Amino acid sequence: MTITGAGESVIGNSVSHDRLQELRSFDESKAGVKGLVDAGITKIPRIFIRPPEDLAGDSHNSSETTNTQITIPVIDLSDIVGRRADKVAGVRRAAEEVGFFQVVNHGIAERVLEDILEAARGFHELPTEVKADYYSRESMRKVKYYSNYHLYNSRFANWRDTMVCDMGPEPLDPQELPLVCRDIIIEYSKQVHKLGITLFELLSEALGLKPDHLIDLECAKGHQFLSHYYPACPEPELTMGTAKHSDPDFLTILLQDHIGGLQVLHQNHYIDVPPVPGALIVNIGDLLQLISNDRFKSVEHRVLSNHQGPRVSVPCFFTPLLYPSTMIYGPIKDLLSEDSPPVYREASVQDFFAHYIEKGLDENSALPHFKFQR
Ligand code: OGA
Ligand code: NI
Repeated sequence: MTITGAGESVIGNSVSHDRLQELRSFDESKAGVKGLVDAGITKIPRIFIRPPEDLAGDSHNSSETTNTQITIPVIDLSDIVGRRADKVAGVRRAAEEVGFFQVVNHGIAERVLEDILEAARGFHELPTEVKADYYSRESMRKVKYYSNYHLYNSRFANWRDTMVCDMGPEPLDPQELPLVCRDIIIEYSKQVHKLGITLFELLSEALGLKPDHLIDLECAKGHQFLSHYYPACPEPELTMGTAKHSDPDFLTILLQDHIGGLQVLHQNHYIDVPPVPGALIVNIGDLLQLISNDRFKSVEHRVLSNHQGPRVSVPCFFTPLLYPSTMIYGPIKDLLSEDSPPVYREASVQDFFAHYIEKGLDENSALPHFKFQR
């Protein structure tokens, strides 16, 4: 969909005044998808409905689309000093072959994981009028909540609401955080940041580089905390919780609750990322695929909507979007040779995100645009 100056939204060739109106009134309610469910709707509004053609290639019947031969690797991070080579090999295989893995014994206590999920849910379950004060799409606002980041520039809305906090590199004033989740977000982010450093060290070594190579490239500098809330959906076969996408960051560390629904595209099949108690999910983002010159894969993934809910997930993005980065990113020179020429041209952080936003629809990767034409 594109939005024209005349206030019309265009879907394919047909102009729909209604749709833009519906999007606006949904947005202006500041109550999100949760507000619709609280109001007792039994049919989902049109803005969420995907046509059968769209859902056909995106089937909800996971027994048809799931390749049971492949599973998402689970890597045990205990004894990463003593068994370094094993851990590096495990991370290398997962990052190269699947782009997604889960980590256990990562050093973050189960109690902290339980508390952050509960606090994240607590925010979304605050009274609408309290939450409404945080409802914003303003990029300068460090703590905000909205439903559908791409509400006005994607064809279909997703059945989910999101809270976002910019945690670093600039320290966040704790007073900006809602009380229900204030202390635990600060604690959790600190611990996830530390885990991020450990993972970037392993990933650097997996590329045959010195352990701090990726950190020196500022991969762990910008740190964003999100919490997604996927309310129970009365017609889950007509919509998606999160449409297919890849993450436009270096790395994502995600905590999901027990409900499930996250799926990763692997060789044209969706594979479930099953909830594993105590585990964190790690996935390679577009920027790490770019600087690793396609060694590591930033793969597409999605979240199915469900009769069961709410589902809560907590992603942390390592992204340079949060500060005025002066870095230019291209394939790391040490990885290039006559046999491995650069796949991508260099791009500033501003170029990368300008293209990410300009390409509109959230379902296409930003990466191909930066490929050398050969
Ligand atoms: C994301 C994402 C998955 C989930 O936020 O980029 O893919 O389980 N989330 O919420
Ligand atoms: Ni994602």
